[in-house]
Amino acid sequence: MDEVIVFGVVRNTPYNKTVGDTYILGIESSCDETAAAVVRSGEELISNVVYSQIPTHHPYGGVVPELASREHLRAIVPVVRKALEDAGKTYESIDAVAVTQGPGLAGSLLVGLSYAKALAFAADKPLIAVNHLEGHIHAVLLEERQNGNSELQFPVLALVVSGGHTHLYLAERHDSGWTYRNIGHTRDDAAGEAFDKVAKLLDLGYPGGPVIDFLARHGNPQAVKFPFAQIKHRDRNPQNRHSPDELRTDFSYSGIKTAVLRYVEVNNMAASIARRREVMKGISKPKPEDYLAHCDRQTLDLVASFQRAIVNDLVDKTLSAAVDHAAATMLVTGGVAANSELRATFEARAASDGLPVLFPSRKLSTDNAAMIAAAAYPRFLAGEFAPPDISSDAALRLG
Ligand code: KG4
Ligand code: ZN
Repeated sequence: MDEVIVFGVVRNTPYNKTVGDTYILGIESSCDETAAAVVRSGEELISNVVYSQIPTHHPYGGVVPELASREHLRAIVPVVRKALEDAGKTYESIDAVAVTQGPGLAGSLLVGLSYAKALAFAADKPLIAVNHLEGHIHAVLLEERQNGNSELQFPVLALVVSGGHTHLYLAERHDSGWTYRNIGHTRDDAAGEAFDKVAKLLDLGYPGGPVIDFLARHGNPQAVKFPFAQIKHRDRNPQNRHSPDELRTDFSYSGIKTAVLRYVEVNNMAASIARRREVMKGISKPKPEDYLAHCDRQTLDLVASFQRAIVNDLVDKTLSAAVDHAAATMLVTGGVAANSELRATFEARAASDGLPVLFPSRKLSTDNAAMIAAAAYPRFLAGEFAPPDISSDAALRLG
């Protein structure tokens, strides 16, 4: 790439360097993945290491925050070393360290941020703080650039849909970087959280998304009807208001979880769930096929109908927001973007509307550090370095 001069301040000292290719080490520890990656100039994935804690949390049917921080502590040094080694880089030969500042679990974030701060200090590199949600958006942008598609049509509408978030953003690129405006969010549970909670209720393990994705292919998605409400409203908050009476589109996924619970009770499914629990106890690392072998028709129909309802709601609301805001491109990202039915439905519906919809590969849909290193690149060019006293923020907002 062309050389540019980066001006910033690193630990109270002016930073003034002419840079060409820029190698950023990204570190991510916001939830239950300890991840590190090296990305070149926001456009080429050089290495990508993800240590998943799923086996630790699986027996509890969800992430246990205390166990997550402990696992991050154990994994962070070897994960970062491996990412550098795979990239053929050293602490000295990288240009900057990027780390997730928030949102996420307080203890988990603290491990990544403290480590990144210490590393940047010891190696005398700039530290760049990244919002995890911005990272998910840049997972798509990184791969698009890597595939030679660097020209996006604006406005860009991004749906970030994961275990902790269901957010809609309008994203814009400026000379000095990217800005985001939130135009919708979930009012209660995130979509991935609903997948995880329904899987827990039906004893299908953790995380719920991948198992339900697999099982749903074997059930009838029309069997059970789960209605959703449209939650479209004018933004009456003067602080948020971009233009008078801007339309917002919100989501809500706690109701469907309760509806599944009611269905289980009314249809006396407790005995079949208990039978599955007993069998699964005897399988050390159950695979989706193992769950399939122990699901009756009623369970398969229920999960297929549940998934269809969530997918339709996400697609309907996002496409409707795309019309409201005259979006020219859509991005769908975050763990739930790995869902096969969500991808297929978005692709079919967006194609009929003539709107491009971009997804990350499955490996960059769920949490990873490549997205953090990619999101950090425009900040690096703008010299937006984190001060030495930066702290993590579990409730950090984007836009
Ligand atoms: O982005 P991510 O790794 O972590 C958060 O930032 O939350 O997302 C994890 C979430 C979990 O709720 C998981 O069940 C869901 O993504 N997920 C899926 C699929 N793969 C992961 N949900 C539906 N279908 C999938 N194939
Ligand atoms: Zn995430």
